[in-house]
Amino acid sequence: MIGAGLSMTAGPLYLSANAQPTEETEDSHNYLEYLARQEPPQLTPQGSFGPSYEDILGPYYAQNAPFRGKVTAPLEPGEILLVRGRIWSYETKRPIAHALLDIWQADAEGKYDKTDAKDRLKISQFRNRIRLLTDETGYYEYETVKPGKYRVGASYRPSHIHYLVRAPGHRQLITQLYFKGDPHNDTDATAKKSNLRVELETVSGAGGKYLRATFDLVLVAGESKEPAGAGAGAERPGTPHLKEIVVGTKV
Ligand SMILES: [Fe+2]
Repeated sequence: MIGAGLSMTAGPLYLSANAQPTEETEDSHNYLEYLARQEPPQLTPQGSFGPSYEDILGPYYAQNAPFRGKVTAPLEPGEILLVRGRIWSYETKRPIAHALLDIWQADAEGKYDKTDAKDRLKISQFRNRIRLLTDETGYYEYETVKPGKYRVGASYRPSHIHYLVRAPGHRQLITQLYFKGDPHNDTDATAKKSNLRVELETVSGAGGKYLRATFDLVLVAGESKEPAGAGAGAERPGTPHLKEIVVGTKV
């Protein structure tokens, strides 16, 4: 077992010199074979195949969120929401494997971890923030709860989820997911210009019902770089370069 061979002292993780390789089992799971057997969801970009709407970064972005497939903590209050989709290249018209997504959002009450700037614990836990990579078919999915609206000045921002998408050979895309039918979509300065509004479907799962949305994005060719803007202040120094993060991606 790998765990038994790990050095447990503080600092970088290393396998000890006498660590043995994990024994191969007959049932070695192979994701590509699984995809070939199951066929991944055949999603295509919604609407016309054009570069996705570029939205504001907002004040709540934080770099270096952990990689995980669930945005919210277990048993987080709110309506359970599954978001899935693909990241596409506008030039090649093909999905982008191993694109890097930053996802961040408010909780069901409309609060971010940074809403109360004094709450360092929430910020250090990257509450309701994740990074994830698209798979070999450009597909991604994550579980979360539907975020609540929140007040900015005299009006409300509609329910939304923030995205920052990067992929080698493509311009980074900063955008937001909105929900069709939200009463604040057309009064919000930026939401009213966006066509990125998802339809929610209700799905019956083993333990009850949940909401599901499909959200594809289209990137254009260019150079990817760290975001600049009000929310770009690093919570932690030393962001690894994208090429160090995205292992094995063909540019
Ligand atoms: Fe926001």
